Formats: sequence, C-alpha cells, structure tokens
Amino acid sequence: MQVIVVDTAQDVAMLGADHICRLLSKKDNAVLGLATGSTPIALYQELIERYRRKEVMFRSAHSFNLDEYVGIAAEHLQSYRFFMNQQLFEHIDIQLKNTHVPDGMIDPIQAADDYEALINAAGGIDLQVLGIGRNGHIGFNEPSSSLGSLTRIKTLTPDTIRDNSRFFSADEFQPRLAITMGIGTILRAKKALLLATGASKADAIQAMVEGPLSASCPASALQLHANAVVIVDKEAGAKLVNHEYYHWVRAETDQLIVGLK
Ligand code: F6R
Repeated sequence: MQVIVVDTAQDVAMLGADHICRLLSKKDNAVLGLATGSTPIALYQELIERYRRKEVMFRSAHSFNLDEYVGIAAEHLQSYRFFMNQQLFEHIDIQLKNTHVPDGMIDPIQAADDYEALINAAGGIDLQVLGIGRNGHIGFNEPSSSLGSLTRIKTLTPDTIRDNSRFFSADEFQPRLAITMGIGTILRAKKALLLATGASKADAIQAMVEGPLSASCPASALQLHANAVVIVDKEAGAKLVNHEYYHWVRAETDQLIVGLK
C-alpha cells in the first residue's frame, strides 16, 4: 500500500486526477470505478478542468460506480446516478451508455448479480476510486462485511444513515439499503485509489493502514491489494503513526523514478 500524505484537500484532488489522467493517456478505453460522496467532488472538478484544457479525454472510457441506494430512481436528486451525471458525466465527453450505476429500483437482488457480471464482461476495473466512511466502510461495505463479498445488497448502519442524512430533507424517504460492489469486487480492480480528507476520517485511515486486517474495518482489506494508493490530506492522516516513513518512501520512490529516466 502506498500512503501519500499531502497538505490540503485540493492536493488530494490534484494527485488523484494525475493517477486517472496517466491511466487514460496509456489506455483511452480504461474502465474506471467511481465513487460518490463529498470526497471525490474536488477530484471530479479537477478532471472537468483538465478536460476543458484538453489534457484528458473520456470518449472511449467506461465507468462503474461503487453503489446506489435501493428504492430511489435514477432521476431522484439523491440518487447516485443523478450525482454522477451532475458532478462529472454532463461536463466531460464520456458516453452515457458507457457509464454504469447499479439499478436499485426494479429487482435489486438480480441487479446486483447482473452488475457484477457486467463488470467482468467489461474486462474488470482498471482503477477504482474510493472514499472511506468514518466507520471504515468502502462502498457500502459496512463493518462485518465479508472480505470476499461481491456486488450485493447491504443494510446501512445507523451511523452511515446519520452521516448521509445531511443530503435528505427531514420529511424525505431515506433508504436503509444499498446495492454495493463487494470488497472482493473492489480487490479485483487492477488499481485502488482511496482518497480521504478532513479530521473526521483520521481514525478510519489509521485503522485501515496500520490496524489489523479485519472485517471490522472493511477498508483494511486494501492491505491485500497489490496496487493500492491512499492519498490523504494532513487532517485525515493526522493519526498515522508511521507518518515519517510514508514521506520517506515517497521521496525515495521519486528519486528512483528520476534515476531510471
Ligand atoms: C460512495 C461510497 C462511500 C463514501 C464514503 C465517504 O460511493 O461508496 O463509501 O465514499 O461514505 O463519503 P464522503 O466522501 O461523503 O465522506
């Protein structure tokens, strides 16, 4: 796992965008795994800026989102499909038919199986963007999720429901179930890119990077991934014990790359 601690949330977005743009410059039909929530918004804005400056194109790219609420239609303002269209897809040249978000409306159990099959049929995910919940969830794989799980329906924890209630008005239906890629699905991505910002994520980041591999912290499963990159700002990285080592590794790696050029 490569752990990169940068100064600001904007630095997290810039570095995250570098990884995605580098992939697309090598493979224009790459399959991107995408996330919703507050964290990737700055990343998506940065990608939109780079697209406008003609530094990156998405015309041939494909995408699969991590998750979607059960019982909320794509047109609903709080659906993750709506979020993705509004935050990214409408502003770049990706073809909407190549973008996928699970369908939690008609037959969610079947939709979950179909989604997993669709990811496999697309050749798997090249790069999966992830955020992290305060409880260590990735996607909606809440603590106790099987580390081998595939796309399925999960019941959200009261904490997650509370965290996400900020997006729903008081009298609005807020789902308690979601379709989510499983941890096994995420581990199959060729590269995992987890981004975190803000002090509220510091405990989860410490547990994920330096704690035991455990279903109690689903993100710790990334310790098993051969190509996982974790980019956090100072606040989210504040509780990392081996802080200095991560900086040192980064400096040494940069030197190695310069030496190889
Ligand atoms: C979103 C997702 C979640 C979020 C996590 C962090 O698609 O799967 O795991 O990444 O809840 O959310 P924010 O970024 O809002 O703190």
